[in-house]
Amino acid sequence: MPIKITDSVSWVGVFDWNLRNFHGVWTPRGGTYNSYLVKDGGESVLIDTAYDKFGDELVRNISEATDLKGLGHIIVNHAEPDHSSAISMVLKEAPAADVVCTARCKDFLEHQGVNAKFQVVKEGDMLRVGSRTLSFIEAPMLHWPEVMWTFLEEERVLFPCDMFGAQVIQSNLDAEEVPDIEQHIKRYFAFIFRPLSSAVIKGLDKAERLRPSVICPSHGPIWRDASRIQEIYRLLATAPEKEKALIAYASIWGDVERMAKAIAEGVQSTGVEVVLKDVGELTWQGWSDLLADAMEAKGIAVGSPTVLGGIFPQLNYATMLMRLVKAKGKVGVSFGTYGWGPGITKKLDDELAAMDAKPYRGGLEVRFKPTERDLELCRDAGRELGERIRGVRL
Ligand code: FEO
Repeated sequence: MPIKITDSVSWVGVFDWNLRNFHGVWTPRGGTYNSYLVKDGGESVLIDTAYDKFGDELVRNISEATDLKGLGHIIVNHAEPDHSSAISMVLKEAPAADVVCTARCKDFLEHQGVNAKFQVVKEGDMLRVGSRTLSFIEAPMLHWPEVMWTFLEEERVLFPCDMFGAQVIQSNLDAEEVPDIEQHIKRYFAFIFRPLSSAVIKGLDKAERLRPSVICPSHGPIWRDASRIQEIYRLLATAPEKEKALIAYASIWGDVERMAKAIAEGVQSTGVEVVLKDVGELTWQGWSDLLADAMEAKGIAVGSPTVLGGIFPQLNYATMLMRLVKAKGKVGVSFGTYGWGPGITKKLDDELAAMDAKPYRGGLEVRFKPTERDLELCRDAGRELGERIRGVRL
């Protein structure tokens, strides 16, 4: 069912109620593929389509808002299939429409089998819809290189596709009514935009110059308080870290886990928040949260038993994921066990260095089982981690 956003804009997208894993992002309340119709003076333009799994529903929604035979243009801000794979289904019902996009987007669409009449646009170009004006802003790497944004000048509505999104359903599309909206944004941002944060900062500067009144992203709710979502994105792109430690470990016989808990006690004694994750037990929900926690943590501890001379496989996966959210200035510490071949913490220190969590001391490495003395050393290391996070020890 279409939802009215402004005088000339209606949402005609689809809700994916059963979505729980959006390419790695946990989506406990489903997700959306937003498509917008701009209509004025008998003319209509569609901004983005949707994932073709929901193509029939999308076509039905658009046709409830306008006569598809009269649709003049389909603006494609982004060629990723969640926004573009239903183009052919819409074009079948809207044969007069052309596809408006950047040159690179045209190339991407053609290589995904889209056969259409194209109108290539670039930064600053404009398109009239009745008395309204749509302008285009190139936004490379937000989230792919071909991306552009569309701006409805008269009502100051920004359509930034993935940027300023969150993957959550709010049936009236009002972002202010999603009670845990920041958690949804954090999970989405950590996976999709944190690795691209330098592009995000450029995008934020462009958005600021546009001074939008309403922000209509392609995932999740709509922002009528446009400054709030811009502030949240700026914080996550520039300084998401808190006084928080993440301890990610794998344990086979509970020995590494005892070390992890001792480190956690040390951190807790300094008043710093600590999150403990046994990566061997994580579901994909947990993996998504791990990434958001890693983004926020100023300190990261990683621990592993020695398995076939190396790091436990799930911990290897965890460190690979955590590299995505690397930020300067994190501190790290490694810990682990071995039976006959030492050196596990050297391997873990290399992983910490790769995620820019500089080890502040040598790894805590024990043979088979930690003794009480070893656990005391772990508590000391945890205390030092907390103090370094709080900046009371450098
Ligand atoms: Fe929602 Fe990059 O696609």
